[in-house]
Amino acid sequence: MNVIVAGSGIAGLTAALHAHEAGHDVTIVTKGDIGAGCTGLAQGGVAGIYGPDDSAALHAADTLDAGAGLSDRDAVQVLVTDGAARIAELIARGVGFDRAADGSLQLGREAAHRHARIVHAGGDATGAAISAALVGAVRQTDVGLVEHAFLVDLVVRDGAVCGVRILHDGATSTLSADAVILATGGAGHLYAHTTNPEGTTGDGIAAAMRAGAAVADMEFVQFHPTILATGPAFLISEAVRGEGATLVDDDDRRFVFDSHLEGELAPRDVVARAIARRAAAQGSPVRLDATMLGAEALARRFPTIDRVTRERGFDWAREPIPVTPAAHYLMGGVVTDLDGRTTVPGLFAAGEVACTGVHGANRLASNSLLEGAVFGARAAAALRSPWADIAHESVPVRRRPERGRGGIAPAFTRAGLQQLMWDEVGLLRTGDGLAHALDTLGAWSASGSAPTTVAAHEDTNLLLLAEATTIAALARTASVGAHHRVETDAPDAPATSRHPSSILETV
Ligand code: SIN
Repeated sequence: MNVIVAGSGIAGLTAALHAHEAGHDVTIVTKGDIGAGCTGLAQGGVAGIYGPDDSAALHAADTLDAGAGLSDRDAVQVLVTDGAARIAELIARGVGFDRAADGSLQLGREAAHRHARIVHAGGDATGAAISAALVGAVRQTDVGLVEHAFLVDLVVRDGAVCGVRILHDGATSTLSADAVILATGGAGHLYAHTTNPEGTTGDGIAAAMRAGAAVADMEFVQFHPTILATGPAFLISEAVRGEGATLVDDDDRRFVFDSHLEGELAPRDVVARAIARRAAAQGSPVRLDATMLGAEALARRFPTIDRVTRERGFDWAREPIPVTPAAHYLMGGVVTDLDGRTTVPGLFAAGEVACTGVHGANRLASNSLLEGAVFGARAAAALRSPWADIAHESVPVRRRPERGRGGIAPAFTRAGLQQLMWDEVGLLRTGDGLAHALDTLGAWSASGSAPTTVAAHEDTNLLLLAEATTIAALARTASVGAHHRVETDAPDAPATSRHPSSILETV
């Protein structure tokens, strides 16, 4: 088969390598340089190596707990079952995961994991090591590569995806394919503050929506709790807290315990909200105290963070550093089955672009690289399976609500959209704020013209996804996981798997 893989993070590269090894003709189209997306920046590791007291079942239980009851149990089972083989594959492809003195893999712990089961490479440079190994492996094959190619749209004929339209070197062209695997990542640039690199504008999800694919769980946006609070967004890995660092307020109090018994190792959404609330109350950022770990251990275990914090004028071995949350990961995306098939024949999705159901309402730390590898490989393996044989979950669609309030919206700018999303569709949401956001987004959508440049296409995609996120957030009136409605600051409603109300009408 002639297969196009859109994207070149861990999911795309894994899918491309597996598809090539299965004998398919594969071409990767990617927005920037190959390997230049989120994967290469990942400080956190890959969960899935189990010590004597640990097991795949316990990893699954932690994943389900973090997902706040909304994860798909079958998808989680696949994740923890296939995980070991994918980590072994990464090692075989040359990823040098950190080892203990006896040569065994060194296992780290991050928030909401009950056991140390996470492998890292280069301390806090896991993504860079994975990206380098997978890009190197692809370069040794005859897999085709089109870099700096913007995915304009999927080509659909007779209800099936049969190619992609790309904008490359200023010209639009069509590449035909028997199947397309979307691995284009998430949409962090919906928000004014994000850990995601430039270009993470949800292009794959938007293209899939325009092609008629179902998307789900768009209201579940994960905000990483600890971004350095000065300068361009720089993530301070959760593994630092996993090693024992604490979060303190202006009175040097470990305030996260007010919100959760696990304190700094509570699920990410809990920690992020606790930080945002405490910072608002005291009028200044809270601080991450890693001084107890000592200068030598900090430099050895977290060389990247050590370097960047020092470049920014902090000595984190001597004083706590200011931190604040930022948008980090989209749990929702293009609905897939356990083999990456979307609801549109010919179209697969893997990695952050996809909604496999693994993450539910809140992703467990270090499950995303694992998910990309596991479901990228599964999508490639499923390429030859006929679509009709696959029973897709039948999900109802929901109409957009009537917009409540009129009013004149300010002129559209991307920065304006990002600030609106940050203010009204962020960590702490209210019905009024969401309705206001939807009104403004609707006015901007109505006044848009057909995009011709990459930036204009990105704006169109951000607007589409901003509306999808806001509509889903309005529909979910109870707080659950990363979706927090302030006016219902109360125990969450009983949750069901892949809640149908989050499935959006996509045309
Ligand atoms: C981190 O290192 O804290 C990020 C890891 C992740 O997002 O899974």
